[in-house]
Amino acid sequence: MRPSLLLRLVVVLAATVTSFARAAVAPAFDDSYEAQYMARMSMYGSELFHIRLKIPSGYTAGVVTTFYLISQPENGGHDEIDFEFLGDKAGRPVTLQTNLIIDGRSYREQRLRLWFDPAAAFHDYKILWNAYQLVMSVDDTPVRVLRNLTAAVPGYRFPSKPAMLIRGSIWDAWATDGGRANVDWSRAPFTAAFRGFNVDAACAVGDVTPPCYDDPAALWWNGGEYEALSDAQRAAYEGVRNNSMDYCTDELRFNSHVPLECSYN
Ligand SMILES: *[C@@H]1O[C@H](CO)[C@@H](O)[C@H](O)[C@H]1NC(C)=O
Ligand SMILES: *[C@@H]1O[C@H](CO)[C@@H](O)[C@H](O)[C@H]1NC(C)=O
Repeated sequence: MRPSLLLRLVVVLAATVTSFARAAVAPAFDDSYEAQYMARMSMYGSELFHIRLKIPSGYTAGVVTTFYLISQPENGGHDEIDFEFLGDKAGRPVTLQTNLIIDGRSYREQRLRLWFDPAAAFHDYKILWNAYQLVMSVDDTPVRVLRNLTAAVPGYRFPSKPAMLIRGSIWDAWATDGGRANVDWSRAPFTAAFRGFNVDAACAVGDVTPPCYDDPAALWWNGGEYEALSDAQRAAYEGVRNNSMDYCTDELRFNSHVPLECSYN
């Protein structure tokens, strides 16, 4: 599932308009966030983002719900940090795909079988992004971690564009059964609920000096316990990794060009 960026953005808008236009009850989503899809126009340079999310339930083949950060401008080698819930046929577990796009290169999709049904209730999803690490968590369990080793390892990639926008979306994609199961619009509306969006722990670019990756006294997510996983987090992460399809071990796909960070887990 790697549509071009342009196609993807068009699809985000189209799918969102369609699914909300068909919804009988307008969700509070549009009241709290920018129309159609959430895009706080503030840009952030480091943060601990937090959202509570409940994805559409039932038969959702081809429907993808997302919460993600994307650097600006969006063409010419952008960075992106994605939570993507891949819809499925009813009764089959939803897959949480995380993806990192760094300098416009997308080949880091990783799929995880969640230990709960993300359509049944709200759960917490967080993205910690600072100068030391990127940690994506589900209910405070790390599900994806990337250390920032760019200073020490030549050629290493870590999302380091100065400013990211935050988005949530619902869109139709080739995400189910290898793209064979498309959206069944007779089962619309597909409604995702976003709640508890928190930008308190975020450095809005331009609002502060010194820069966003510094000053842990004021920007607390830039230091202390946020510099590395604790022993408890590390143990939880190991348990999660046992249930995920790690892109680093997907040799078929990389044909021996395995990304550099895979040597530094
Ligand atoms: C990652 O580390 C490099 C090298 O120290 C630094 O230039 C970059 O700003 C860091 N990334 C972030 C997001 O702070
Ligand atoms: C993960 O799998 C490894 C290797 O099979 C095993 O040693 C370890 O105990 C597992 N960890 C958890 C938390 O399930």
